[in-house]
Amino acid sequence: MRVSVKVNGTGHTVDGVEAGESLLRLLRERLGLPGAKNACEQGECGSCTVYLDGVTVCSCLVAAGQADGRQVRTVEGLADGDELDPVQAAFLETGAVQCGFCTPGLLVQTHDLLERNPHPAALEIREALSGNLCRCTGYEKILDAVRLAAARKAR
Ligand code: FES
Ligand code: FES
Repeated sequence: MRVSVKVNGTGHTVDGVEAGESLLRLLRERLGLPGAKNACEQGECGSCTVYLDGVTVCSCLVAAGQADGRQVRTVEGLADGDELDPVQAAFLETGAVQCGFCTPGLLVQTHDLLERNPHPAALEIREALSGNLCRCTGYEKILDAVRLAAARKAR
């Protein structure tokens, strides 16, 4: 199967995509974008989160063929050149990154949250990130990062 998809603003046409192949595999193994992580491959952990036509999805649950003709934005597409997105900078500064496996998904999900709701309440943050699992941080530093990014974006 041939799949044509725009990823982070660049068009790609990929031949030989298999029927059951996931968007996550297409991104990581065929397009060389390893940001989205494969942890559970069952829609449980959120580490593979990307935008598909502006909506966050678990890319392990989306068939690559479903992305044909659509736009994908991955964690690699959040920064503006060398300038980190405020969400990325806040995660680094607050120590919200330990092993880093959950981080790409959390960054995309937090980016989406703050685009939709620049002033999220504590419960709204927890709800928005409830599908993103982290086994390292205990979540407090992640919540600190989201609050810091929200405060900076609000300036
Ligand atoms: S790898 Fe997709 S949700 Fe865990
Ligand atoms: S930093 Fe290791 S899983 Fe979150």
